[in-house]
Amino acid sequence: MSGEGELTEEVQERAQRLAQQLEYHATRYYQEDEPEITDASYDALVRELREIEERFPELADLGSPTQRVGSPPSTTFAPVRHAVAMMSLDNAFSREELAAWMARALRLLGREAAGEELALVGEPKIDGLSLSLRYARGQLVQAATRGDGRVGEEVTANARTIIDLPDHLLALPGAAQQLPEVFEVRGEVYLPVSDFDELNRRQIELGLRTFANPRNCAAGSLRQKDPAVTATRPLRFFAYQLGEVIGADPRYRVSGQQELLALLRASGFSVNPEIKLLLGLDAVVDFCDQLLTQRHTFDYDIDGAVIKVDELALQQALGATAHAPRWAIAYKFPPEERETLLEEILVSIGRTGRATPYARMQPVLVAGSTVEFASLHNADQVALKDVRPGDTVILRKAGDVIPEVVGPVLSMRPDGSSPWQFPTRCPTCGATLIRLEGESDTYCVNIDCSAQQVQRIAHFASRTAMDIEGLGESRIELFIREGLLHDVADIFLLAEDRLVSLEGFGQLSATNLVSSIASARDQGLTRLLVGLSIRHVGPTIAQSLAREFIDLDALVSADATRLGAIDGIGPAIVDSVIAFFAAPSNRVVVERLRAAGVSFRSDRYRGDQIGETPLAGRSIVVTGTLVGFNRIEAEEAITSRGGRSPGSVSAKTFALVIGEEPGAAKVTKAEALGVAIVNEEGFRHLLATGELPSDAAADAIAPALEK
Ligand code: IVH
Repeated sequence: MSGEGELTEEVQERAQRLAQQLEYHATRYYQEDEPEITDASYDALVRELREIEERFPELADLGSPTQRVGSPPSTTFAPVRHAVAMMSLDNAFSREELAAWMARALRLLGREAAGEELALVGEPKIDGLSLSLRYARGQLVQAATRGDGRVGEEVTANARTIIDLPDHLLALPGAAQQLPEVFEVRGEVYLPVSDFDELNRRQIELGLRTFANPRNCAAGSLRQKDPAVTATRPLRFFAYQLGEVIGADPRYRVSGQQELLALLRASGFSVNPEIKLLLGLDAVVDFCDQLLTQRHTFDYDIDGAVIKVDELALQQALGATAHAPRWAIAYKFPPEERETLLEEILVSIGRTGRATPYARMQPVLVAGSTVEFASLHNADQVALKDVRPGDTVILRKAGDVIPEVVGPVLSMRPDGSSPWQFPTRCPTCGATLIRLEGESDTYCVNIDCSAQQVQRIAHFASRTAMDIEGLGESRIELFIREGLLHDVADIFLLAEDRLVSLEGFGQLSATNLVSSIASARDQGLTRLLVGLSIRHVGPTIAQSLAREFIDLDALVSADATRLGAIDGIGPAIVDSVIAFFAAPSNRVVVERLRAAGVSFRSDRYRGDQIGETPLAGRSIVVTGTLVGFNRIEAEEAITSRGGRSPGSVSAKTFALVIGEEPGAAKVTKAEALGVAIVNEEGFRHLLATGELPSDAAADAIAPALEK
């Protein structure tokens, strides 16, 4: 769409198509609270149309989506005409665009020559929905959404359920006073990320569709017909602007944005704590960069920063365009959600035979790294999201989190597509896949399946199990191809002279591998049990079994009653242990391990040979980046000491370990529940001793994050 100014039919058609698309997506976003495309894609469409309209002003009419704010209000709620329009903001996506905005403001104010630094206020751009609250003589009388900027929707009863919205304005300090006749406060309604996660967990438990993101959930919650439903959604509000004000005494007079925020705070509103006064472009850019790096430490989503000229007189001088003030600009973060083409849905087979569907997509750069694959978890999840090969999907990668397919863009679905069907046969060995009633996972139950074989042997050799250094997946695949490995017992038959003859092996690497295999023979019963890939038997259960039976032969011949009597061992574990040792092929492996000289014994007096188990029964949650451990290593460090490492904090959590950029929601929850919070040094202490650092080692106890 570049080039010189000829208004061709093609350009006209493109503009029309863009206008139609924007119309459609605006309705999905504003009225149905169920957007199909990412905000970034929507912005890109607006930009493209705006560029065309700038080149060919004859195309721009007042009905164009580029001239409108939001979308017309729906008919579910009574209309409210805003006495002062609720405007939108222009966007900047780079330092250059921020600089251009500032230069323009300075030029319009006639200040560019003096090199003066304009006082600006930087605020996080809360990713929620704006709300206007009308107070009459200090009483909340009406709450209205933005709607199209001129007419919004009346949602007063719903808004009253928001806890940080005062029903009465607080009186300002001073002599006897009259509260203003009319005082309109504007700001953003949002849903805390931790509450959003909780709500979605509940939706999944109930087998219901999950909400796409906190913003949509907040919008949907505020626009409920029944305020009782809104009341079950813990919405919050940050105040940042005024609307109409009538009959306010001088104490309400403010000269700048900063003072205004102080006034709002004094009147009883929550004001965002990250807001800063900024002088000059560098400070603005630093502020934006800082928010970008911190964004996931806040318990609310932000999608950028809003930069406002502080002085109200200057704001007035700058005025506004048809839809946005010239005295403010929204700096938008690079997207963490991207659209991409889902090329295939594949199924991978794990060591227990679990078949996990995953998406292969056209690679896209999202939140700083290129993503091509994302797990789709299980058949139910695929069905619930109804993602299909050929769909354009929204891919999300927030912070350091694993990439997630959010859902399909339905309006871009190719004709004739049909829901994806879970394969009936294992993609590797062709055996029939089985899904047991009441379970969400599907399994390949063929013990000889080569995909399982590789995964099982790799797990047997892993650090949590027999800890055989130098025996990773690619070598295992090579040994299987060479006919050297079929099951875990074959590992102990690998001979140095045979290894040396293989591609990629030298004398040294062969000697090293054989010697680490040799020392694995004496790892003891707990690690051996972990290594056997018995369903539901991880380090903690293996530990209990090893303690109870001391010897593998005793465990193999144990019956269900004896197993079930062990503390912490429920019926599912009993069944899977019994089934495992009943299978003839597993019996053969056990005998071959015995013949290879692998120890079946647990030595009580050596702390059960998995090393000490100082964390037995303790649940430790890790958040943020640690220096000495990646995510998996931290987890292994915990589980190999008998502990558990779940993904979320609960009252049962023994300690929360925080690294760089910890998740604010976890920290807040730990604080609320009185769970100990330790830093990496404290974590090392915990791993070594099983205890929290004492007062003497107070440095290892993390200070609560600054609010
Ligand atoms: S000021 C006339 N400040 O962003 C100025 N808006 O893209 C109006 N938003 O409609 C808005 N955080 O819903 C302002 N700190 C903030 C904001 C903010 C989020 C939203 C608001 C607005 C939209 C514009």
